[in-house]
Amino acid sequence: MWRKSYLIGLLVVVLLPWLAWAQAGHEYVVPSATTLEAIAQETFGDAAYAPAIMAATNRKHIEDPAIVRIPSLQTPIEAGWKIWIPDKDWADAFLSVWNPAKPELLFGTPPGGQLVVASWWTAGGEAEGLNALFEIYHKYYPDVEIVNATIAGGAGFVFRAVIKPRLIAGDPPDTFQLHAGLEVEGYSPETYLEPLDDLYAIEGWDKVFPPDLMDLLVYKGHYWGVPVNIHRANVLWYDKGIFEKYNLTPPKNWDEFFTICEKLKAEGIVPIVMGTAGGWEAGHVFETILISTLGADKYKGLWTGDTPWSDPGVTEALEIFKRMLDYVNTDHSALSWDGGGEYLIAGKGAMLIMGDWTNGWFMAKGYNDYGWAPVPGTQGIFDALSDTFCLPKQARNRDNAFAWLRVCGSKEGQIAFNTRKGSIPARTDLTEEDKAQFNEYLRSCMEDWARDAIVPSPIHGAAAIESWVTDFKDAINLFLVSKDVDGTQQALIEAAEAALEAMKE
Ligand code: GAL
Repeated sequence: MWRKSYLIGLLVVVLLPWLAWAQAGHEYVVPSATTLEAIAQETFGDAAYAPAIMAATNRKHIEDPAIVRIPSLQTPIEAGWKIWIPDKDWADAFLSVWNPAKPELLFGTPPGGQLVVASWWTAGGEAEGLNALFEIYHKYYPDVEIVNATIAGGAGFVFRAVIKPRLIAGDPPDTFQLHAGLEVEGYSPETYLEPLDDLYAIEGWDKVFPPDLMDLLVYKGHYWGVPVNIHRANVLWYDKGIFEKYNLTPPKNWDEFFTICEKLKAEGIVPIVMGTAGGWEAGHVFETILISTLGADKYKGLWTGDTPWSDPGVTEALEIFKRMLDYVNTDHSALSWDGGGEYLIAGKGAMLIMGDWTNGWFMAKGYNDYGWAPVPGTQGIFDALSDTFCLPKQARNRDNAFAWLRVCGSKEGQIAFNTRKGSIPARTDLTEEDKAQFNEYLRSCMEDWARDAIVPSPIHGAAAIESWVTDFKDAINLFLVSKDVDGTQQALIEAAEAALEAMKE
């Protein structure tokens, strides 16, 4: 499902005509008092196009206040009003999803009241990225008060445990962070979340998000979240100063990695830093080691049932992880992922395996002396995940949430967010000028995304249902202490059996 080869073809054939999608249409100054239906009749030869004109006008109003906001389909249209007449293609696409039970698609409600946005983005880089999205939302919807409802804890394990009871109790935030992929299963989306298929159709998002990501975004035939980014999990960050001082180059395989570890340990430097307090970070490191020992296809097969967990590649990965633990900071269980990163900043630790939110964190910390490489043995493979925002069925401020989702999916929103967050935009329609706003790491990451084999991350919600991810991370967390290769592999085999069985239901 993760194919990249036709991206360029996609760009030329499909994407370019869609770049002007949102703007398609023209301004129209109403000559004399009339109705929307009359304008629709006159323009499209059919009064049924009135909702399309209203929606297009209201969307345009958000960018250009000189275009009037039309509050309802019955509003008398006055002489001199500037409205927006959409192109026929856009109007037809809109009408294919429109029905009167979906007034939010018309964007007719004046924005006001609150917008409660829930996420786990509290660390450096994360908070800055989120704030950048808030600033853009505020620019277009200044009368809406944004409530930043964060629940700290990397990768969202604490977050999910708090949000779920709120959904069930009918007291959800207006929108919340959700990983693209099978994580959505844990929220019983058909009961608690709103499918976003209509919004995707109106915004033309299926034309601007890459196919690899689109595959992840569909669950039970619907879209449940709007992606703001693509993150990479299999990155080895290293302190350039230390590497230069000891004349080291980034390890390409585990032999080179352990040679470096030995050398640095003898110098009194922590070779590989970790913070494992969140309970998921060890699982994160381990998933990247699995990729290195199994390769892209066999690794993907672990999560679909095609590769047995009894495979020798899993044993080898556990052996490598066990050996790695000899070179890790002894206080790792007291530190979160970013706490581990402090070792690099202080020049006391040399390497860190963590996703590229670390890039955002480094930026927020003003630390520039870092280099990056794929985790040893994972060259040419991109361990991917994506953050989306979703819409609970019982959201109190539904219109405001819809507007938020549009900002999340917009190019403006994604550039502002990702340049701070340390991820790349989910959208594929960035110009060279847009790309120039991203730092060197992120520009290299964009190239890797377009070229590498893409595999889904389990720890970050893409590859597996939540119960499986929990069993997986718990088994690896226990391994930190037990270092029991056979017992842990057996636990992983059993976790897979239980999850694959549950997924059949
Ligand atoms: C991931 C999430 C990232 C980043 C990271 C650490 O699961 O997708 O956006 O926040 O956790 O918190």
